[in-house]
Amino acid sequence: MKGIILLGGRGSRLYPVTNCINKHLLPVYDKPMVYYPLSTLMLGGIREYLMISSPEDLPQFKQLFGDGSRLGLKITYAEQAEPKGIAQAFTIGEKFIGKEPVTLILGDNIFYGDAIQQRLQSAISDNVGGTIFAYRVRDPQRFGVVSVDKNGKATKIIEKPKDPESNWAVTGLYVYNNDVIEIAKNLKPSGRGELEITDVNAEYLKRGSLNVKFWGRGLAWLDAGTHDSLLESGDFVRIVEKRQGQKLACLEEIAYRKGFISFEQFETIVANMPSSTYKSDAEAILKEEAELRAAA
Ligand code: DAU
Repeated sequence: MKGIILLGGRGSRLYPVTNCINKHLLPVYDKPMVYYPLSTLMLGGIREYLMISSPEDLPQFKQLFGDGSRLGLKITYAEQAEPKGIAQAFTIGEKFIGKEPVTLILGDNIFYGDAIQQRLQSAISDNVGGTIFAYRVRDPQRFGVVSVDKNGKATKIIEKPKDPESNWAVTGLYVYNNDVIEIAKNLKPSGRGELEITDVNAEYLKRGSLNVKFWGRGLAWLDAGTHDSLLESGDFVRIVEKRQGQKLACLEEIAYRKGFISFEQFETIVANMPSSTYKSDAEAILKEEAELRAAA
C-alpha cells in the first residue's frame, strides 16, 4: 500500500497567513500541520509516501522530512504546478503508485482517537474498490456529502451540496485500488474547474465498489483549513496533550511503536532533539519503554 499526502492548494481561506507560507507548515499547537496526516497514515502501517505540493513549497517539505529514513519511511516528492483538484494526485502519482493500491490523505485533515489504527488497517486490508470514511457534522454544506439508505449503503455522493441530504461528511482520507489512476485520468473538471475527489468516489459508487465506513463519536475529525478550525484544532491538541502529558502525532514515537525504527534509533533521535516539550515528552516515553524492557 502506497500513501499520498496532498500539501498543495492555495490556502486562500487562510489569507493573508498563507501569503508566503504553505498552510500545511503552519503550527497546529506545537507541531506543523503535516505531522498529523502523516501520523494517521503511519498508524495505518504505510511506509512509502509521495508528498505533493507546489514547486515553491516542496523544498520546505524536503527539508522537514528528507527521504524519511530517519522515521523508517521512504518519502519522495512531486510537484503540482497548479492546484487543479485533489484527484490530480493520482495522475501526478501514477509512477509512484505503480500497480499497487493507494491511500490518500489531505494535508489539513486531523484525526484523533484510539480506533484510527485498527480501523484504517482493516479498511486497507479489506478494501476492494474504494473505501471512504464518513463523519457526522453540523455543517455538511462545507464538505463532500454521502447519502445512505436504511442499511447504511451509500446511494449518492455530492460535493458541497447547498441542500445536503444527510449530515455525513466525507473525510479527507481515501483508500483505493489501482483503478483510481484510470478513473482520475478520465475525469473532467467540475464547474469550479477542479478534478474533484467526489467524482472519483461517485465513479466507484457507480461501479458498485464504494465502501463507506462511519466514524462514531469516539473519534475527532478536524480540518484545519480556516482561521477558526485552525485555532480550534490547536486548542484541541493542547487540551489533550496537557491532560495526558503525551504528544499527539509524535512521529518518532509512532515509528518506534510500529516497528519502523528500533528502540536505539528512537533514543538517538530524541537525544539529538533541541530542548523542547516535544523532546521532554519523547524522553518520558523512552523512560517508560526502557523500564518495560528491563522488566520483561
Ligand atoms: O476535508 C474534507 C473535504 O476536503 C471533503 O469533504 C471534500 O469532499 C473535498 O473536496 C475537500 O474539500 P475542501 O474544500 O476542504 O478542499 P480544499 O480545496 O480545501 O483542499 C483540501 C486539501 O487538499 C488542502 O489541504 C489543500 C489540498 N489541495 C487541494 C487542491 C484542490 C491540493 O494539494 N491541491 C489541490 O489542487
